[in-house]
Amino acid sequence: MLLARVESALAAFLAEHPLPENLRAACLHAVLAGGKRLRPILVLESALAAGGDVDGALPAAIAIEFVHAFSLVHDDLPALDNDSMRRGKPTCHVAFGEAMAILAGDCLLALAPIAASRSRHGVAEIQSELMQATVRMIAGQVYDTLQGFPEGLAEAARLELVHHNKTGALLECSCRMGALAAGADADTLARLTQYGQSTGLMFQIVDDLIDATQTAEHAGKATGKDAEAGKLTYPAVHGIDGSRREIERLRTQALDALAPLGASGARLRALVEFLAHRTR
Ligand code: IPE
Ligand code: IPE
Ligand code: MG
Ligand code: MG
Ligand code: MG
Repeated sequence: MLLARVESALAAFLAEHPLPENLRAACLHAVLAGGKRLRPILVLESALAAGGDVDGALPAAIAIEFVHAFSLVHDDLPALDNDSMRRGKPTCHVAFGEAMAILAGDCLLALAPIAASRSRHGVAEIQSELMQATVRMIAGQVYDTLQGFPEGLAEAARLELVHHNKTGALLECSCRMGALAAGADADTLARLTQYGQSTGLMFQIVDDLIDATQTAEHAGKATGKDAEAGKLTYPAVHGIDGSRREIERLRTQALDALAPLGASGARLRALVEFLAHRTR
C-alpha cells in the first residue's frame, strides 16, 4: 500500500540522519505525528499514471512531505497563524518551544533536496521543481500574512494568487515530480500539471471551508481562525455556496485534464473526488 511505503520511507530517512536528540524529537513530531500524506500520494499516483513505478518516485514523495512539514511548523508559529493544535496534537512550538520549531522547520527544509537527490533519474530537474514550488509556497505565505500583492489586483484575483501559491504550488509540484520521475512524455506531464494545479487550488478552498464550518475536534486543528484573523478566504469573498461552486468547477477541470489518460488515471480521479468532499 502506498501510504505504508511513504510512512516507512519518511521514518527511515529521518532515522539515518545524525541529529541532536532534541532536534530529532521535534522533526519526528512534525513529520510522523499524523497527516494525510496527500502530497507524497500525489507524487506516487502521478508516477504510476505516467507508467512509472513506486520505487523511482519515492525519494521525491518523501522530499515534498519534508517541505510540507516545514511549511506547517512555521505556519503555526506565533508570528504567523499562532496555532496550538495540529493533527489533533500540540503544534511543534507548543511541544518544543519556538526556537526549536524554527530550527526544526529549517532542518526539514534542508532534508528535502537531500531526499530528492536519491531519485533514480532526473535528479537536478526534480530538485529544481521542488525548490521552485517551495519559493512559490513561501511567496503565498507572504501574500497570506504580509500582503505585497502586485499593484491593481482586484480582491478575487488576490485571493486566487494567495491560494495558487501557498498551497497549489506544492500540489502541482507533486504531480509534476511524479511525472518526471516516471520519465513521462510532454503531453502526460502537461495533463498531470493541469490536474495538480486545479486540485491544488481546490484543496485550499476546501481547507477554507473546513475552517469556516467544522469543529476543531473534527478537523484536528483550530477552526474559525481565518475569519477571526481577517484572512482573505473563499468563504469570505465568495460565500459558502460560491466556494462550493468553485470547488465543483475545479474538480471538473481536474477530471477533464485526466480524461485522455483513460484507465491509468482512475486512481487520481478517485483522489480528487475524495479531496473535493473531505471535511478534515
Ligand atoms: C494543511 O495541509 C495545510 C494546507 C495547505 C491547507 P494538509 O491538510 O495536507 O495537512 P496534513 O498533512 O494532512 O496534516
Ligand atoms: C497553510 O494554509 C498553507 C501553508 C503553506 C502551510 P493554512 O494556514 O490555511 O493551513 P492550516 O489551516 O493552518 O492547516
Ligand atoms: Mg496560514
Ligand atoms: Mg495555518
Ligand atoms: Mg486553513
